[in-house]
Amino acid sequence: MVQRKIIIDTDPGQDDAVAILLALASPEEIDVLGITCVAGNVPLELTSKNARIICELAGKPDVPVYAGCDRPLGRNLVTAEHVHGKTGLNGPVLPDPQMPLQETHAVDFIIETLRAEPPGTVTLCPLGPLTNIATALNKAPDIAERVQEIVLMGGAYFEVGNITPTAEFNIYVDPQAAEIAFKSGIDIVVMPLDVTHKALVTPDRNEAFRNLETPVGTAVAQMTDFFERFDKEKYGSDGAPLHDPCVTAYLLRPDLFSGRHINVEIETGSELTMGMTVADWWGVTDRPPNALFINDLDADGFFSLLTERLARL
Ligand code: BDR
Ligand code: CA
Repeated sequence: MVQRKIIIDTDPGQDDAVAILLALASPEEIDVLGITCVAGNVPLELTSKNARIICELAGKPDVPVYAGCDRPLGRNLVTAEHVHGKTGLNGPVLPDPQMPLQETHAVDFIIETLRAEPPGTVTLCPLGPLTNIATALNKAPDIAERVQEIVLMGGAYFEVGNITPTAEFNIYVDPQAAEIAFKSGIDIVVMPLDVTHKALVTPDRNEAFRNLETPVGTAVAQMTDFFERFDKEKYGSDGAPLHDPCVTAYLLRPDLFSGRHINVEIETGSELTMGMTVADWWGVTDRPPNALFINDLDADGFFSLLTERLARL
């Protein structure tokens, strides 16, 4: 497999943390050029701290981490401490990071990297609200044609909403930013709730993380122990959905996933359905496809991959 250069844009978040760990555990296939942080699950100060905590947990303190936008483009920030806890990484007790935050703004890092690398060689992996990505596209429209692909976690169609009746959290927090990304003409792969709700950490799967008997395995088990209560109560599910790791797992094993190439538009007008991903799953419009919308995965294959990779850290 050809090594893929990626930028992870993130708001950690326990599931973001697992997504980052999976990427950092896979250097043969994935070259993480940098991690850019955005306000989302918790405010920016915490997401940019949490990203560094995770790099250090992985034993990779040299990965550059950048702070980006601290609020959505045109709305007030909505956070999700009710899911992720006060710090965003509740569960394990992990030390404060020693590695520095880079001085460059995340948006400038995204722009500079895309301009410096050969066109079509850098994939963007947004795991939170799309504010940094949209700000970069607004500031430097020339980068759109240089992006290899965007593989993002966000949206929902059959599962509809988790933060409102119709909207998924990442898209709801910054729908204007999401609209810019979906209209950019860049190839997009979407991991919506339809697939991430199938990536469930059952008790057996969490035991497998714990049985690694490594700091990473223990921390991941403790994160999902904490994070699962929300979905158990809300959906009656068996455990925590690993939303964001679907993105990095897709880079490693796209064959584990399936979906349809369809048109996806973002609701930005109606307060009632703000941030809804209007996915033309059944092809009832003439709107051209702009995204590969994933709806299924081989969950056992996904968890085998994840456990095997986390064991390498
Ligand atoms: C998404 O929202 C966040 O809470 C998670 O980290 C994930 O990116 C799921 O809706
Ligand atoms: Ca996230």
